[in-house]
Amino acid sequence: IKITIIDREGVKHNVDAPTDMNMNLMEIVRSYELAPEGTIGICGGMAMCASCQCYVLSDHELPEMSYDEDLMLSEAFNVRDNSRLGCQIFIREELDGLEVELAPEV
Ligand code: FES
Repeated sequence: IKITIIDREGVKHNVDAPTDMNMNLMEIVRSYELAPEGTIGICGGMAMCASCQCYVLSDHELPEMSYDEDLMLSEAFNVRDNSRLGCQIFIREELDGLEVELAPEV
């Protein structure tokens, strides 16, 4: 599927994301090196660091937040109504055309 990711410099990237590898959005950002090493995915995708926070700009319906994601976002900085943890968004067919912006570095 195609995903648009706006990096922390405000640059838009249109990237291909595979649906058959059980990857999450944080891993996609890392695989395209859209954020410097060590600034995203610090907890390894455990919903425990918020370094992968992003703002969902498109109107895709995402799965409900887990308790852990909700809790982490309640403690994170720069949280907005459309904040989600990238590591908790798994790449699936329904997310084709998703547009997100990376939250500022923590
Ligand atoms: Fe740590 Fe997502 S990588 S919360």
